[in-house]
This record gives sequence, structure tokens and C-alpha cells, in this order.
Amino acid sequence: MKNNAKIFAHRGVSGHYPENTMAAFQAALEAGADGIELDVQIAKDGKLVIIHDETVDRTTNGTGCIKDLTYDEIMQLDAGGWFAAANAGETIPELETVFQWAIRDGNGLMINVELKNDRIEYQGLEEKVIELIQRYGLEDRVILSSFNAESLKRVREVHPALQTGYLITGVPEDAMRVAKKIGADSIHCEEAFALSEYGREARRAGFPLRVYTVNDETRSDFLAKAGVEVIMTDFPERFLKN
Ligand code: G3P
Ligand code: MG
Repeated sequence: MKNNAKIFAHRGVSGHYPENTMAAFQAALEAGADGIELDVQIAKDGKLVIIHDETVDRTTNGTGCIKDLTYDEIMQLDAGGWFAAANAGETIPELETVFQWAIRDGNGLMINVELKNDRIEYQGLEEKVIELIQRYGLEDRVILSSFNAESLKRVREVHPALQTGYLITGVPEDAMRVAKKIGADSIHCEEAFALSEYGREARRAGFPLRVYTVNDETRSDFLAKAGVEVIMTDFPERFLKN
């Protein structure tokens, strides 16, 4: 199967491995994906941790809010057993661990860091993530995205050039206007937006469209023809097979 869209593993290869774990990210590298998407939040002690939900309840054997737990407490939790017995022992990674892995030889993956601050406004999240990106020299490989427009505006204030993607759900008519206003350079959207008149307009105006979450590989050619730059999927191997 041929397609021109790049393939990003959504929360890593989350169809086959526990989401947002090193096992899921390593599987993306081994599958030949172009990038990974992950979600970041701040623990009680200020550490940047990779998890989708605001609590550890669904994806670990523990309970509680990320903001109320230290990383020492979080790292004790089993973040794999909920998915499959074979994955027991996986832990919630720090963002820094992913960056250390990303700069190893042979790893050129793009990293879409979603700032998970649409429900909880983590103070200083943008600055902390940007400092880490700079420390690891990953400015050209990281794309910062968020559903929180104010957060992306903050990113742009702190750093003039980092790639930013305004995350939307559905087909909002003002997406491009908001993206322009906050200085975002791409729109991360669902398939319906990419195929809508608003999506076409945004693409013509120069906003790359990165689509989440597509698991049906038969949509691949269609989305590529529609000019979609990136497809985020839980099953990258479906899109990468020839
Ligand atoms: O970043 C794309 C996608 O991950 C946004 O939704 O809920 O999977 O983080 P969610
Ligand atoms: Mg996400």
C-alpha cells in the first residue's frame, strides 16, 4: 500500500502495547513509523510524566490524580498489566526518558508532545517542556500540540520557532482563525475536519493537517489525496505494510 502521509504512532503503538509506555514507543521505531504522539502532564513534584488521563486509575494498578502524586509514587505503579499480562512491569515514563531514547543512534522519530492541559491548567507546563526540548536539542523533531489555545499561545511567546499544532475535535468553523491568532503552524484534527471545506481552506492557506486517530488503513490513500500530512494511528503497521 502506498501513501504519502507520514505515520505517527498514537500514544505509541497503543493497539498492541500499553499506551504511552516505552514499549509502545520502541514498537513504533521498530515498525518504521515516522513519529510518535504522546501526552504529557506534571506530577506533584514538578516532574513531566507521560500519561493520557488526569488520573492513574485506568492505565495502572493505582489510583489518584497525577497532580497529587510524586514521580517516585507514580513510577512504582504497573502501567502494563491492565493491557495484557505479558506487559506487566511497564512503568509511566518521564518525558526526559523519552528524549534520552530519542537521541540514540538510529532514532530519528518525530515526537508530537501533546500538552494535556485542557482539563487541568498545569502552571509552567509549556516552559518546562520547552526547556527539556532545548536541553536535548530536539527543536526540529518535536511538535507541541494542545486543545488549549492559550497554552499554544504561551508556547509561541516562549519560543518563536517550535512547531505547534492546534488540536480540535469535530469541524469547528473558526479553527484556522484561532490557529492564526495563537501562532500555531498546523492543525491536528479528526478526519471529518480534514475532509471538510474548512479543512481544505486551512490546507490551502498553508496549515498542515495532522489527523487523529485513524485505524482503518483503507482511508490512507483517500486522506493522502486530501493532502493530509500525518496520520496518527494506534496500529502503524497497517499503514506501513507494502
Ligand atoms: O494528539 C492527538 C490525540 O491524541 C488527541 O486526543 O485524547 O487521544 O489525546 P487524545
Ligand atoms: Mg493525545
